[in-house]
Amino acid sequence: MAKELIRLENCTMAFDGEVVLDNINLYINDHEFLTLLGPSGCGKTTTLRIIGGFQTPTSGTVFFDGVRINDVPPHKRAVNTVFQKYALFPHLNVFENIAFGLRIPKADPENKKKVKLPEQEIRSRVMEMLEIVNLKGFEKRRINQLSGGQQQRVAIARALVNQPKVLLLDEPLGALDLKLRKDMQNELKRIQQTMGITFIYVTHDQEEALSMSDTVVVMDKGRIQQIGTPEDIYNEPKNAFVADFIGESNILDGIMRADGVVEIFNRRFQCLDGGFEKDEAVDVVIRPEDVDIVPEDQGQLKGTVTNLTFKGVHYDTIVDFYGFKWLIQTTDYCPVGSRIGIKIDPDGIHVMKKSQYSGMFGDYSSYSEEYDEISDATLVPEEAEEEAHYEE
Ligand SMILES: Nc1ncnc2c1ncn2[C@@H]1O[C@H](COP(=O)(O)OP(=O)(O)O)[C@@H](O)[C@H]1O
Ligand SMILES: [Mg+2]
Repeated sequence: MAKELIRLENCTMAFDGEVVLDNINLYINDHEFLTLLGPSGCGKTTTLRIIGGFQTPTSGTVFFDGVRINDVPPHKRAVNTVFQKYALFPHLNVFENIAFGLRIPKADPENKKKVKLPEQEIRSRVMEMLEIVNLKGFEKRRINQLSGGQQQRVAIARALVNQPKVLLLDEPLGALDLKLRKDMQNELKRIQQTMGITFIYVTHDQEEALSMSDTVVVMDKGRIQQIGTPEDIYNEPKNAFVADFIGESNILDGIMRADGVVEIFNRRFQCLDGGFEKDEAVDVVIRPEDVDIVPEDQGQLKGTVTNLTFKGVHYDTIVDFYGFKWLIQTTDYCPVGSRIGIKIDPDGIHVMKKSQYSGMFGDYSSYSEEYDEISDATLVPEEAEEEAHYEE
């Protein structure tokens, strides 16, 4: 059974009266890999700093193991932090950077005297860490003789050597290039599992969040938008913000005609969603990979291909339906200008409540603006005109 380790209860943070975290409620289990995900400025770092003890919430309570820790300073929490800027000591070698925290004398609870760890224990713990982060043989190296990825490993080893129960990581891979970042993602996941500790990870990169986490917390504007497993967040986004932020999606206006029946562009589609009012206006999200291309006369909707980009595994195909453009990812080759039909299985349609984010992503899908420009340039205007007057 999962055991709760940390809880933020009704936590609000304001700077000079400006609310940057608005009533955050969140718990983190022991051994969990939890990621705070959201755009820059949404409050991720502030949340992490509250957990680390670097900031006290304006109101609300922070619990660790069921005990209120609002006023416990960082060094007395069983938590350690890895920052994006690694803050390693350039004048110390790799071994001494990692050993640094172990060399600080600790108060002995028995006799209140400060005690030092024996050199032998320091050595064995540092060597064990070097092994875990794959830096065996590097102990004598200077920090400026290391690559960015290696420096990151030293920072992680230094944070882990004190055996914290929780490691806080604030965009730790932000400074690395893509290939290295991918390697380090796997590496971090492996370290977390090997050591069996709790990771609270901050990133604005949705792919990173999906691939590493047990639980993803999606944030925007100081509020939690959704908490769930990567699969939940991707397949069952709560609102248009989450659908847009997590992967690419076509977000459309719909009307819920009955449980399991949603109307889009005056056509009725079967879906798996229910529990809405009859004829309730909703947002409908359809992922680009959930659309099947069929011959035009067999399509539930019919449209014209306006742009095609080869992506290796699939084509990103932009299709204009009645003046509204969709992104479809398919292995079928459909040249620009061709007429196609599409079919969507009931489980490829996801219905969401209208929210403050409804309509924020234009009158069509949230694929990149670059595609938007390309496809606008190639769309034949007369055809778009004509298509706007489709009939039932
Ligand atoms: N010490 C501070 N004083 C004033 N404003 C701050 C402070 N720290 C953060 N903020 C503001 O709080 C908001 C959230 O910041 P932050 O938590 O760093 O976001 P994120 O990490 O998601 O990018 C931002 O608008 C930021 O400018
Ligand atoms: Mg930040």
